[in-house]
Amino acid sequence: MLKDLLRIADLSTEDLVRLLDLADSIKREPYRFDRVLDDESLFAYFSKPSTRTRVSLAEAVARLGGQIQFFGPQELQLGRGETIEDTAAVVSRYAKVIVIRTYSDDELDRFAGAATVPVINALTDLHHPCQALADMMTIREKLGRIAGVRIVYVGAGNNVAHSLMEAGAMLGAEVVIATPAGLAPDPGITRVSQRMAATSGGSVTLSDRPLQAVAGADVIYTDVWTSMGDSEQHRESRLTALHPFQVNAELMSRARPHAIFMHCLPAHRGEEVTDEVLDGPQSVVLDQAENRLHTEQALLVALLEESLTGAAPS
Ligand code: CP
Ligand code: NVA
Repeated sequence: MLKDLLRIADLSTEDLVRLLDLADSIKREPYRFDRVLDDESLFAYFSKPSTRTRVSLAEAVARLGGQIQFFGPQELQLGRGETIEDTAAVVSRYAKVIVIRTYSDDELDRFAGAATVPVINALTDLHHPCQALADMMTIREKLGRIAGVRIVYVGAGNNVAHSLMEAGAMLGAEVVIATPAGLAPDPGITRVSQRMAATSGGSVTLSDRPLQAVAGADVIYTDVWTSMGDSEQHRESRLTALHPFQVNAELMSRARPHAIFMHCLPAHRGEEVTDEVLDGPQSVVLDQAENRLHTEQALLVALLEESLTGAAPS
Protein backbone atom coordinates (compact mmCIF):
# COMPACT_ATOMS: atom_id res chain seq x y z
CA MET A 1 0.00 0.00 0.00
CA LEU A 2 1.21 3.51 -0.78
CA LYS A 3 1.15 5.61 2.38
CA ASP A 4 2.18 9.01 1.01
CA LEU A 5 2.19 11.14 -2.13
CA LEU A 6 5.64 12.72 -2.27
CA ARG A 7 6.06 12.72 -6.07
CA ILE A 8 4.10 11.48 -9.08
CA ALA A 9 6.58 8.66 -9.78
CA ASP A 10 5.48 7.11 -6.43
CA LEU A 11 2.16 6.22 -8.05
CA SER A 12 1.52 3.29 -10.33
CA THR A 13 -0.10 4.12 -13.67
CA GLU A 14 -3.27 2.39 -12.47
CA ASP A 15 -3.32 4.55 -9.31
CA LEU A 16 -2.90 7.72 -11.34
CA VAL A 17 -5.72 6.83 -13.75
CA ARG A 18 -7.92 5.80 -10.82
CA LEU A 19 -7.29 9.14 -9.09
CA LEU A 20 -8.23 11.03 -12.25
CA ASP A 21 -11.40 8.96 -12.70
CA LEU A 22 -12.30 9.53 -9.06
CA ALA A 23 -11.69 13.28 -9.43
CA ASP A 24 -13.99 13.37 -12.48
CA SER A 25 -16.75 11.67 -10.53
CA ILE A 26 -16.22 13.96 -7.51
CA LYS A 27 -16.46 16.98 -9.79
CA ARG A 28 -19.89 15.75 -10.89
CA GLU A 29 -20.96 14.85 -7.36
CA PRO A 30 -18.84 16.90 -4.87
CA TYR A 31 -20.43 15.72 -1.61
CA ARG A 32 -20.38 12.01 -2.39
CA PHE A 33 -17.71 11.34 0.27
CA ASP A 34 -18.91 13.78 2.93
CA ARG A 35 -18.27 11.41 5.85
CA VAL A 36 -14.75 10.27 4.93
CA LEU A 37 -13.09 12.56 7.48
CA ASP A 38 -15.91 12.36 9.99
CA ASP A 39 -14.94 15.52 11.92
CA GLU A 40 -11.25 14.60 12.01
CA SER A 41 -8.37 16.97 11.16
CA LEU A 42 -5.49 17.39 8.79
CA PHE A 43 -2.26 19.12 9.81
CA ALA A 44 -0.62 21.39 7.24
CA TYR A 45 2.87 22.86 7.58
CA PHE A 46 3.49 25.55 4.94
CA SER A 47 6.84 27.31 4.95
CA LYS A 48 6.12 28.97 1.56
CA PRO A 49 3.10 31.12 0.62
CA SER A 50 0.08 29.60 -1.15
CA THR A 51 -3.31 30.65 -2.45
CA ARG A 52 -4.66 27.80 -4.60
CA THR A 53 -3.23 24.85 -2.69
CA ARG A 54 -4.20 26.19 0.69
CA VAL A 55 -7.73 27.30 -0.18
CA SER A 56 -8.56 24.27 -2.36
CA LEU A 57 -7.29 21.88 0.32
CA ALA A 58 -9.37 23.61 2.98
CA GLU A 59 -12.45 23.27 0.78
CA ALA A 60 -11.64 19.66 -0.18
CA VAL A 61 -11.32 18.76 3.50
CA ALA A 62 -14.59 20.56 4.35
CA ARG A 63 -16.38 18.60 1.62
CA LEU A 64 -15.07 15.38 3.19
CA GLY A 65 -16.49 16.39 6.57
CA GLY A 66 -13.25 17.36 8.32
CA GLN A 67 -11.05 20.35 9.04
CA ILE A 68 -7.46 21.39 8.37
CA GLN A 69 -5.12 23.49 10.48
CA PHE A 70 -2.30 25.40 8.77
CA PHE A 71 0.95 26.35 10.50
CA GLY A 72 4.05 28.26 9.42
CA PRO A 73 7.57 27.76 10.78
CA GLN A 74 7.29 30.51 13.40
CA GLU A 75 4.16 29.05 14.98
CA LEU A 76 5.66 25.66 15.75
CA GLN A 77 8.46 24.53 18.02
CA LEU A 78 10.04 23.38 14.76
CA GLY A 79 11.09 27.02 14.34
CA ARG A 80 12.97 26.76 17.68
CA GLY A 81 14.80 23.55 16.90
CA GLU A 82 12.39 20.70 17.63
CA THR A 83 13.24 18.03 15.09
CA ILE A 84 11.13 17.22 12.05
CA GLU A 85 10.98 13.61 13.24
CA ASP A 86 9.60 14.52 16.68
CA THR A 87 7.12 16.94 15.11
CA ALA A 88 5.89 14.35 12.61
CA ALA A 89 5.54 11.61 15.24
CA VAL A 90 3.57 13.85 17.61
CA VAL A 91 1.31 15.36 14.97
CA SER A 92 0.50 11.85 13.68
CA ARG A 93 -1.29 11.30 17.02
CA TYR A 94 -3.65 14.22 16.28
CA ALA A 95 -4.18 14.36 12.53
CA LYS A 96 -5.37 11.90 9.87
CA VAL A 97 -3.08 13.34 7.17
CA ILE A 98 -0.03 15.63 7.13
CA VAL A 99 0.40 18.13 4.28
CA ILE A 100 3.78 19.77 3.74
CA ARG A 101 4.83 22.73 1.57
CA THR A 102 8.51 23.44 2.01
CA TYR A 103 11.89 23.94 0.35
CA SER A 104 14.02 20.82 0.38
CA ASP A 105 12.69 17.40 -0.56
CA ASP A 106 14.92 16.00 2.14
CA GLU A 107 12.79 17.77 4.80
CA LEU A 108 9.68 16.28 3.24
CA ASP A 109 11.23 12.79 3.22
CA ARG A 110 12.09 13.17 6.92
CA PHE A 111 8.46 14.12 7.70
CA ALA A 112 7.21 11.11 5.73
CA GLY A 113 9.75 8.78 7.34
CA ALA A 114 8.66 9.65 10.89
CA ALA A 115 4.91 10.16 10.34
CA THR A 116 2.54 7.26 10.92
CA VAL A 117 -0.22 8.89 8.87
CA PRO A 118 -0.15 9.75 5.13
CA VAL A 119 2.01 12.70 4.06
CA ILE A 120 1.16 14.78 0.98
CA ASN A 121 3.69 16.96 -0.81
CA ALA A 122 1.98 20.33 -1.37
CA LEU A 123 5.09 21.65 -3.22
CA THR A 124 8.80 21.35 -2.66
CA ASP A 125 11.71 22.74 -4.64
CA LEU A 126 11.69 19.63 -6.85
CA HIS A 127 8.09 18.42 -7.05
CA HIS A 128 4.48 19.61 -7.14
CA PRO A 129 2.49 16.38 -7.52
CA CYS A 130 -0.89 17.85 -6.50
CA GLN A 131 -0.55 20.36 -9.33
CA ALA A 132 0.22 17.60 -11.84
CA LEU A 133 -2.94 15.69 -10.84
CA ALA A 134 -5.05 18.75 -11.69
CA ASP A 135 -3.03 19.30 -14.88
CA MET A 136 -3.70 15.76 -16.11
CA MET A 137 -7.38 16.02 -15.18
CA THR A 138 -7.64 19.28 -17.16
CA ILE A 139 -5.88 17.91 -20.24
CA ARG A 140 -8.15 14.86 -20.29
CA GLU A 141 -11.20 17.07 -19.79
CA LYS A 142 -10.26 19.47 -22.60
CA LEU A 143 -8.64 17.14 -25.15
CA GLY A 144 -10.32 13.83 -24.30
CA ARG A 145 -7.10 11.87 -23.71
CA ILE A 146 -3.51 12.16 -22.52
CA ALA A 147 -1.73 9.38 -24.45
CA GLY A 148 -0.22 10.82 -27.61
CA VAL A 149 -0.95 14.44 -26.64
CA ARG A 150 2.02 16.76 -27.29
CA ILE A 151 2.58 18.74 -24.08
CA VAL A 152 5.21 21.45 -24.46
CA TYR A 153 6.41 23.14 -21.29
CA VAL A 154 8.24 26.39 -22.05
CA GLY A 155 10.24 28.26 -19.42
CA ALA A 156 12.46 27.37 -16.46
CA GLY A 157 12.97 23.73 -15.44
CA ASN A 158 11.36 23.58 -11.98
CA ASN A 159 9.05 21.66 -9.61
CA VAL A 160 5.98 22.14 -11.82
CA ALA A 161 7.87 21.06 -14.94
CA HIS A 162 9.22 17.99 -13.09
CA SER A 163 5.80 16.79 -11.92
CA LEU A 164 4.22 17.51 -15.33
CA MET A 165 7.00 15.51 -16.96
CA GLU A 166 6.51 12.54 -14.61
CA ALA A 167 2.71 12.51 -14.98
CA GLY A 168 2.74 13.01 -18.75
CA ALA A 169 5.38 10.30 -19.17
CA MET A 170 3.42 7.86 -17.03
CA LEU A 171 0.27 8.40 -19.11
CA GLY A 172 1.89 8.14 -22.55
CA ALA A 173 2.05 11.81 -23.55
CA GLU A 174 4.71 13.30 -25.81
CA VAL A 175 6.32 15.69 -23.31
CA VAL A 176 8.78 18.35 -24.44
CA ILE A 177 10.51 20.57 -21.89
CA ALA A 178 11.93 23.68 -23.55
CA THR A 179 14.25 25.72 -21.34
CA PRO A 180 17.49 27.67 -21.71
CA ALA A 181 20.43 25.26 -21.40
CA GLY A 182 21.34 26.44 -17.90
CA LEU A 183 17.77 26.01 -16.60
CA ALA A 184 17.09 22.48 -17.82
CA PRO A 185 15.11 20.13 -15.55
CA ASP A 186 16.85 17.95 -12.98
CA PRO A 187 18.74 15.15 -14.83
CA GLY A 188 17.67 12.44 -12.33
CA ILE A 189 13.97 13.34 -12.65
CA THR A 190 14.36 13.51 -16.44
CA ARG A 191 15.81 9.98 -16.48
CA VAL A 192 13.01 8.62 -14.27
CA SER A 193 10.44 10.24 -16.60
CA GLN A 194 12.13 8.90 -19.72
CA ARG A 195 12.09 5.38 -18.24
CA MET A 196 8.36 5.70 -17.50
CA ALA A 197 7.72 7.01 -21.02
CA ALA A 198 9.52 4.02 -22.50
CA THR A 199 6.93 1.79 -20.79
CA SER A 200 3.85 3.91 -21.53
CA GLY A 201 4.58 4.56 -25.22
CA GLY A 202 5.09 8.27 -24.55
CA SER A 203 8.27 10.32 -24.75
CA VAL A 204 10.17 12.98 -22.81
CA THR A 205 12.58 15.22 -24.68
CA LEU A 206 14.45 18.39 -23.77
CA SER A 207 14.94 21.35 -26.07
CA ASP A 208 16.49 24.79 -25.86
CA ARG A 209 14.63 26.03 -28.95
CA PRO A 210 11.15 27.26 -27.94
CA LEU A 211 9.88 28.09 -31.43
CA GLN A 212 10.68 24.62 -32.77
CA ALA A 213 9.47 22.90 -29.58
CA VAL A 214 5.95 24.34 -29.70
CA ALA A 215 5.35 23.32 -33.33
CA GLY A 216 2.45 20.84 -33.32
CA ALA A 217 1.77 21.31 -29.58
CA ASP A 218 -1.64 20.34 -28.21
CA VAL A 219 -0.76 21.95 -24.86
CA ILE A 220 1.56 24.85 -24.15
CA TYR A 221 2.39 25.13 -20.46
CA THR A 222 4.47 27.66 -18.58
CA ASP A 223 5.25 28.69 -15.01
CA VAL A 224 7.01 31.61 -13.32
CA TRP A 225 10.64 32.18 -14.19
CA THR A 226 11.60 32.67 -10.55
CA SER A 227 10.14 30.13 -8.13
CA MET A 228 9.72 30.56 -4.38
CA GLY A 229 13.12 29.89 -2.90
CA ASP A 230 15.08 30.61 -6.11
CA SER A 231 17.99 32.90 -5.46
CA GLU A 232 17.47 36.50 -6.60
CA GLN A 233 21.14 36.46 -7.56
CA HIS A 234 21.71 36.38 -11.33
CA ARG A 235 18.07 37.46 -11.81
CA GLU A 236 18.98 39.74 -14.72
CA SER A 237 20.92 37.10 -16.64
CA ARG A 238 18.15 34.59 -15.95
CA LEU A 239 15.52 36.95 -17.37
CA THR A 240 17.65 37.59 -20.45
CA ALA A 241 18.11 33.85 -21.05
CA LEU A 242 14.38 33.24 -20.59
CA HIS A 243 13.18 36.13 -22.77
CA PRO A 244 12.78 33.96 -25.94
CA PHE A 245 10.69 31.50 -23.88
CA GLN A 246 7.87 33.94 -23.13
CA VAL A 247 4.47 32.52 -24.12
CA ASN A 248 2.93 35.24 -26.29
CA ALA A 249 0.52 35.27 -29.24
CA GLU A 250 3.35 34.59 -31.69
CA LEU A 251 4.46 31.46 -29.81
CA MET A 252 0.85 30.25 -29.40
CA SER A 253 0.26 30.66 -33.14
CA ARG A 254 2.85 27.95 -33.81
CA ALA A 255 0.93 25.33 -31.83
CA ARG A 256 -1.99 23.36 -33.29
CA PRO A 257 -5.14 25.46 -33.76
CA HIS A 258 -7.02 23.64 -30.97
CA ALA A 259 -4.07 23.92 -28.53
CA ILE A 260 -4.77 24.91 -24.94
CA PHE A 261 -2.65 27.18 -22.76
CA MET A 262 -1.92 26.06 -19.18
CA HIS A 263 -0.25 27.71 -16.18
CA CYS A 264 -0.29 26.49 -12.58
CA LEU A 265 -0.57 30.14 -11.37
CA PRO A 266 0.33 32.50 -9.80
CA ALA A 267 1.46 34.16 -13.07
CA HIS A 268 3.96 36.90 -13.47
CA ARG A 269 2.03 38.72 -16.19
CA GLY A 270 4.27 40.23 -18.87
CA GLU A 271 7.17 37.98 -17.89
CA GLU A 272 6.62 34.26 -18.72
CA VAL A 273 3.20 34.94 -20.32
CA THR A 274 1.42 37.92 -21.85
CA ASP A 275 -2.05 39.06 -20.74
CA GLU A 276 -3.28 38.31 -24.25
CA VAL A 277 -2.51 34.60 -23.85
CA LEU A 278 -3.36 34.22 -20.17
CA ASP A 279 -6.77 35.85 -20.64
CA GLY A 280 -7.26 34.60 -24.20
CA PRO A 281 -9.63 31.97 -25.63
CA GLN A 282 -7.08 29.13 -25.52
CA SER A 283 -6.33 29.61 -21.82
CA VAL A 284 -7.75 26.98 -19.44
CA VAL A 285 -6.00 28.25 -16.32
CA LEU A 286 -9.14 28.76 -14.26
CA ASP A 287 -10.46 25.26 -14.96
CA GLN A 288 -6.99 24.00 -14.10
CA ALA A 289 -7.10 25.90 -10.79
CA GLU A 290 -10.61 24.59 -10.05
CA ASN A 291 -9.47 21.03 -10.71
CA ARG A 292 -7.01 21.34 -7.83
CA LEU A 293 -10.06 21.05 -5.57
CA HIS A 294 -11.45 17.90 -7.18
CA THR A 295 -8.10 16.11 -7.48
CA GLU A 296 -7.16 16.89 -3.87
CA GLN A 297 -10.47 15.52 -2.69
CA ALA A 298 -9.85 12.37 -4.77
CA LEU A 299 -6.32 12.03 -3.38
CA LEU A 300 -7.53 12.30 0.21
CA VAL A 301 -10.29 9.73 -0.35
CA ALA A 302 -7.79 7.33 -1.92
CA LEU A 303 -5.13 7.78 0.80
CA LEU A 304 -7.63 7.50 3.64
CA GLU A 305 -9.21 4.42 2.16
CA GLU A 306 -5.69 2.99 1.70
CA SER A 307 -6.43 2.16 -1.88
CA LEU A 308 -3.25 3.42 -3.55
CA THR A 309 -0.87 0.62 -4.43
CA GLY A 310 2.22 2.57 -5.53
CA ALA A 311 4.58 2.13 -8.45
CA ALA A 312 6.05 -1.30 -9.06
CA PRO A 313 9.77 -1.31 -8.25
CA SER A 314 11.76 -0.76 -11.46
N1 CP B 1 -0.47 26.47 -8.20
C1 CP B 1 -0.26 26.59 -6.88
O1 CP B 1 0.23 25.67 -6.21
O2 CP B 1 -0.62 27.80 -6.38
P1 CP B 1 -0.37 28.32 -4.89
O3 CP B 1 1.11 28.57 -4.74
O4 CP B 1 -1.17 29.59 -4.82
O5 CP B 1 -0.85 27.28 -3.92
N1 NVA C 1 7.33 27.01 -9.53
C1 NVA C 1 6.50 27.83 -8.67
C2 NVA C 1 5.16 27.20 -8.53
C3 NVA C 1 4.19 27.95 -7.65
C4 NVA C 1 2.88 27.26 -7.55
C5 NVA C 1 7.18 27.98 -7.31
O1 NVA C 1 7.71 26.99 -6.79
O2 NVA C 1 7.21 29.10 -6.80
